[in-house]
Amino acid sequence: MPTFSQILSKPSIFKDRNTLSSHYVPDILPFREEQIEKIMNWVAPALKNERPRNVFVYGKTGTGKTASVRHVMKKFEEEKTAYAKTCYMNCRIYNSRYRVMQKITKDFIPEMDKAGFGVATLYEKILGWIAAGSYRLIIVLDEVDMVSDLDELMYTLTRANDDLKQGSISLIGISNKLDFKNVLDPRSRSSLCETEMVFAPYSANQLQAILLQRSQMGFGQGIVDESAINFASAIAAQETGDARYALRLLLKAGELADEHSVSKITDKEVEDARKSVDSDIASEIIATLPDQQQIVLYAASCLTLGGSKYAKLFAGTEDEDGKFLSSGEVYEEYTRACKGFKRKKRSSRWYREYLNDLEMLGLITMVDSGPGMRGHTRLIKVGYPPTEIKVLIEKNFMHGKVHSVEDEEAGGTQVKLQ
Ligand SMILES: Nc1ncnc2c1ncn2[C@@H]1O[C@H](COP(=O)(O)OP(=O)(O)O)[C@@H](O)[C@H]1O
Ligand SMILES: [Mg+2]
Repeated sequence: MPTFSQILSKPSIFKDRNTLSSHYVPDILPFREEQIEKIMNWVAPALKNERPRNVFVYGKTGTGKTASVRHVMKKFEEEKTAYAKTCYMNCRIYNSRYRVMQKITKDFIPEMDKAGFGVATLYEKILGWIAAGSYRLIIVLDEVDMVSDLDELMYTLTRANDDLKQGSISLIGISNKLDFKNVLDPRSRSSLCETEMVFAPYSANQLQAILLQRSQMGFGQGIVDESAINFASAIAAQETGDARYALRLLLKAGELADEHSVSKITDKEVEDARKSVDSDIASEIIATLPDQQQIVLYAASCLTLGGSKYAKLFAGTEDEDGKFLSSGEVYEEYTRACKGFKRKKRSSRWYREYLNDLEMLGLITMVDSGPGMRGHTRLIKVGYPPTEIKVLIEKNFMHGKVHSVEDEEAGGTQVKLQ
């Protein structure tokens, strides 16, 4: 058994691992100068005691939205004016009007930080606090699409500004969902989107510069091969231009290097990191799937492993990663698997919906068979190593972590995958 001091003195390739975490906000954010300046211009009125307009910032995940807004907030707070206040929250946690109001109270009116107050009381207290200090409060709602009653929240905040004789509330809403604006109630939309800004995905060259900056902070000079950085950037650019994914590759590559006691990060570590990160991401997605979709995926994985009876019928549907399965045989296997997991089997209409859900999440790919031996059918291929998927789903069910969506057929409402 090693001692703690032995563990802690184990040599590591990292200089400052923390700088590679997705929560770390670097002082300099290359390629976002323009966006940062715009956001600074938007919030600046608060510093001269005027109400900033609400802002809606959106763009794909990993495009630097959170980092840019937090960067501006840091600068903003350094101004230390008496009346300008900011309150940041991630709506994955603060996911309702009530929780958002609780968070504001908790940050600014600590004596109210007890559970049990109703919305009306919180509203009064927050307004009382703003009016007393004539505050210009800027609330940042990151991942604002997670707020379940956003229309109510928007209504409350708009009303608050009408009720306030002194001071004001402004919002910066951030979303990873490009079409989120369109699903908002028109009144909420016009209020939240007074001004808006889109963050575009990064190109391979931009990711390269970002990774270079972070690799120098995280590992020090010369530890990461130039070609490894280029490789990681190319992979991330090909995926979605997501800087978070690119950084995750770099972090994992470092961990693998440590694990194998090598002192440099090369293409090999990046390639291995890609496999490991992709399978982590797949497990994260699978863990949030409702039971029926998991069983369908499970069935497809089992068939892939066990050999498809019909595969030989689909000549030319075999590629280097393996065989396609017919939609019908997966349904048969799904029926068997439902018995095994003691879940009620759904009709083929629902089964087709589940396949669409799985395809949308990138867990399977589907193609049309063309006019084959039994007419058109959909061919299915599992997107991740079937052995891993099988083990993972068995574990999910064994630990009772899978939420089941009962009566969806009867009730007619299908689960919405986010
Ligand atoms: N321009 C940039 N320069 C340096 N790091 C960046 C840049 N853009 C994003 N990052 C880093 O990438 C990760 C993801 O960025 P984040 O702002 O969380 O993305 P988003 O909120 O758009 O999903 C964070 O670790 C962040 O520091
Ligand atoms: Mg974010």
